Amino acid sequence: MKRILSGIQPTGAIHIGNYLGAIKNWVTFQTQSETLFCVVDLHALTTGYPGAAEMQNNVRTMVACYIACGIDPKKSSVFAQSDVPGHCQLSWILGCITPLGWLNRMTQFKDKAGKNKENASLGLYGYPVLMAADILLYQATHVPVGADQKQHLELARDIATAFNREVGEDFFIIPEPFIQGVATRVMSLRDGADKMSKSDPSDYSRILLTDDMDVIAQKIRKAKTDSEPIPDTVEGLADRPEAQNLIQIMASLEETEVADVLARYAGESFSLFKQAMIETLHSTILPIGQKMQEILAAKDYVDQVLKDGAERANDISQKTVQQVYQLIGLRK
Ligand code: ADP
Ligand code: TRP
Repeated sequence: MKRILSGIQPTGAIHIGNYLGAIKNWVTFQTQSETLFCVVDLHALTTGYPGAAEMQNNVRTMVACYIACGIDPKKSSVFAQSDVPGHCQLSWILGCITPLGWLNRMTQFKDKAGKNKENASLGLYGYPVLMAADILLYQATHVPVGADQKQHLELARDIATAFNREVGEDFFIIPEPFIQGVATRVMSLRDGADKMSKSDPSDYSRILLTDDMDVIAQKIRKAKTDSEPIPDTVEGLADRPEAQNLIQIMASLEETEVADVLARYAGESFSLFKQAMIETLHSTILPIGQKMQEILAAKDYVDQVLKDGAERANDISQKTVQQVYQLIGLRK
């Protein structure tokens, strides 16, 4: 049976890139596989401590978001990374066989550290090793993520292979990335060359799952497009990144293909298309935001979900940690 694991950092409101690129795909696995979804709060520390109250709040909000998007805590284990000590335990061990050369290639570190690398933290540098530990700890077979995480997943596979070679047996399952759908890389609404991201300074670059009706409409109306009408073929979107992005978002929201969307809107102007897009966003995103509020209002529910999730995650992960300790001769 497949075992699926994924996670998102609790670093602010979720946008439709996270939703279409990651969480929406997670939901589909729940019926056929064992599923574990982690709120990676230790990863969130790699860009600085946000403050105790905000940290707590961000984790709970992320759990509410997972559930509002369709993750069912009765089918999936939903847990906080910091509730499971195995993540840090395994991360250290894996870090000791990860060559610096591999980490130096990570583009996300280069982007996040920016020009001032000397001031970037060890945590930010070691981020991909902790991520490898998140995955290998559960012997996950598949990891559904957006396209930006491909390099980190390849590193996790390399680390698993290195560990297996080191101990002389196929101990870790080599996890498969699952990067699928028409919206694996949703772009900023302000610039089709940039990824839609929580950290973009412009609020108009992204639609949040918590945005209200008017804000959604405003952001879409202001979204950058070009002056050409909508083409009638997929090839016609080449070199038109903003147009391509909006069409892909629409296709993903409607669970159709880009070609189907083009077939309906070919020759039309973007102003007409944007109106349809606003309506589609209203019918798909607004209910998620409302559900999140309801979940957060049910005071103890989120805490109970986290408690149950941590119990299951600890059961699985402590077995792995013990086996790893044994394999390399550490005291249990
Ligand atoms: P962000 O880059 O906005 O801070 P995260 O790094 O927390 O988002 O990403 C959480 C999940 O959402 C990951 O699986 C990531 O691949 C996916 N994701 C993030 N941004 C996008 C995007 N623009 N398009 C598609 N998937 C995305
Ligand atoms: N690095 C991922 C991101 O920025 C988040 C993450 C941490 C993750 N651990 C993971 C994703 C394990 C999948 C599996 O989006």
